[in-house]
Amino acid sequence: MINLKIHKNKVLIAGANGLLGQKLVNTFADDFEIYGVGRKTSPSLAHLDYTSCDITHRRDIRKLVQSFNPNFVLNAAAYTNVDGCEDDKENCWKVNVKGVENLAQAARSVGATFIHVSTDYVFDGTEEEYTEASTPKPISYYGRAKLAGENAVIISEAAHAIVRTMILYGTGANIGPNFATWLVNKLSKGEPVPIVDDQFGHPTLADDLAKAIRKIVELNKTDLFHICGSDYLSRHDFAVKLADIFDFDASLITRIKTADLNQKANRPLKTKFSLEKARKELGIEMSGVEEGLTILKKQLSGLDH
Ligand SMILES: NC(=O)c1ccc[n+]([C@@H]2O[C@H](COP(=O)([O-])OP(=O)(O)OC[C@H]3O[C@@H](n4cnc5c(N)ncnc54)[C@H](OP(=O)(O)O)[C@@H]3O)[C@@H](O)[C@H]2O)c1
Repeated sequence: MINLKIHKNKVLIAGANGLLGQKLVNTFADDFEIYGVGRKTSPSLAHLDYTSCDITHRRDIRKLVQSFNPNFVLNAAAYTNVDGCEDDKENCWKVNVKGVENLAQAARSVGATFIHVSTDYVFDGTEEEYTEASTPKPISYYGRAKLAGENAVIISEAAHAIVRTMILYGTGANIGPNFATWLVNKLSKGEPVPIVDDQFGHPTLADDLAKAIRKIVELNKTDLFHICGSDYLSRHDFAVKLADIFDFDASLITRIKTADLNQKANRPLKTKFSLEKARKELGIEMSGVEEGLTILKKQLSGLDH
């Protein structure tokens, strides 16, 4: 007799409570067997099969990965507070390097492909455009640790893909503010917002990035990809576009310079990514700012998920 039972691919998602982690859970939920890992005692997304486990605990992570025995391990867990990393270097390194190494080695021990998320902050922001072949040159501790995390993945010898992204925005259950949702909060209350006009990048809708990562899984790609929103603009221009789409008063947005902020960590000022490789090899199209913010508006008004 033919066995018609379909065995779903198993995907373990580390950082399942974060912005990207939640989008990954939602994006993979239909066709994959999912297991979530995070630090919180219970998952932000109810009904998720989940264990609270710190990725810096090597033995626990290995045990967990081996008991679920996934085909893919996706890592959306990170110490993401860029200025916090300057003050708390030890924990930044523990999570963004050692934690990544633990996950990659655990993935390798079960023959799973490891998909890791990194950042444009591995660059210094002085080149005209960055491709996957560009040489990293981080200028913050966060950037240095994320680059060391990428190298830990490579050294682990796990089959792997690394995705560098930037300026993630979107909605989620019990997540902290991101640049777009922080702006919505401020502007909806009529509060003035000084925004830097000398930092340029590609704002990236987290839902789009999760879909692109699903493509990497489906096509079983093991490579380095730059994946971000299709539009390249300044933070100031992004804020003005957001005000326009959400019908907020754009005169609340004033221009400042990065140097005025006196932030602990240096920021790369211009990180223009080439999306050519991701488009060609994954066949993806990433939303521009107008499309992405329109989706965000619908999600925030509860019309879409
Ligand atoms: N946000 C951006 O603009 C941006 C830009 C470029 C690249 N990235 C990269 O994209 C990825 C996803 O970012 P995100 O914005 O979605 O992050 P996020 O919302 O800050 O979520 C990060 C998650 O990591 C988990 N985590 C932190 N330390 C952990 C530990 N020791 N053990 C287990 N889990 C831990 C947290 O879990 P709990 O909630 O359970 O504590 C949190 O939910 C990260 O690799 C980040 O570096 C982000």
